[in-house]
Amino acid sequence: MSTENTMSADIENGPTVLDGKATAKAVRADVAVGAARLTELGRAPGLTVVLVGDDPASQVYVRSKDKAATEAGFVVNTIRLGADAPQSEIEAAVDSLNADDSVDGILVQLPLPKGLDSDAVIERIDPGKDVDGLTATSVARLAMGRDGMVPCTPAGCVEILNRHGIDLSGKDVVVIGRSQLVGKPFAQLALARNATVTICHSRTRDLAAHCRNADVIVAAVGVAKLVQGDWVKPGAVVLDVGINRGEDGKLVGDVDYAAAATRASAITPVPGGIGPMTIAMLLSNTLRASALRQGIELAG
Ligand code: GUN
Repeated sequence: MSTENTMSADIENGPTVLDGKATAKAVRADVAVGAARLTELGRAPGLTVVLVGDDPASQVYVRSKDKAATEAGFVVNTIRLGADAPQSEIEAAVDSLNADDSVDGILVQLPLPKGLDSDAVIERIDPGKDVDGLTATSVARLAMGRDGMVPCTPAGCVEILNRHGIDLSGKDVVVIGRSQLVGKPFAQLALARNATVTICHSRTRDLAAHCRNADVIVAAVGVAKLVQGDWVKPGAVVLDVGINRGEDGKLVGDVDYAAAATRASAITPVPGGIGPMTIAMLLSNTLRASALRQGIELAG
């Protein structure tokens, strides 16, 4: 059966809902096996999160990361600094984590409070411990197609596709958003998987036309329901990275899910799509960093 036939059959039955919660659970279970192996042969993976200030969303994210990493068998610490902490104090915290051999992964939760130079803080992280994949070294390695740390959200997008047997090779991929955290690194990952990639952004002239041509749409701009149902080519795959508050206070993505789901062959919901994958990939990155630092080879 041709791909087209498979896709139209899928649309008639409704799309495959790419369940990020279930997929992340499977990733986390695999990570826990690897963590147990490291604990047996060396020591448990160590992750330290640096949280500056009291941004409510960041507090929630950090608690979720802490819980997931603890459940996977990691040693987790959170360093909390006040919103008025000077740049030097944050950089000194990163320096001491770089020097601490029991710490395999350092994550500085973003955004930092106003007035702080987050680029300078991130750049201080030892690239071997850069489990967020945000240092210039990690970004360069990804652009060069070399092994290295990949930012967790785009890594989660690729992982959910892989685990559902969706191949990017030869596909026309439209990425909406050009952030360092998602859009740019996802574009690199898709390119490395032989996709033809278009990165759209706020100055793109006809976003709808680009989307209508796409086999895969990745929406990562933070504009609620930006992607309309009729922008989705029948049979396309839609990954929604947006997490926005709708007028009713509920979480909504960057895609009009109900309308897009009538045309897509596969789509991620919000919540329960890419969000849970992000944390799972943080654990996966930390496990890998720990194995490398300990000189222990893990299967797979
Ligand atoms: N804030 C929102 N997403 C992220 C992320 O992936 N990493 C970090 N460090 N901060 C974030």
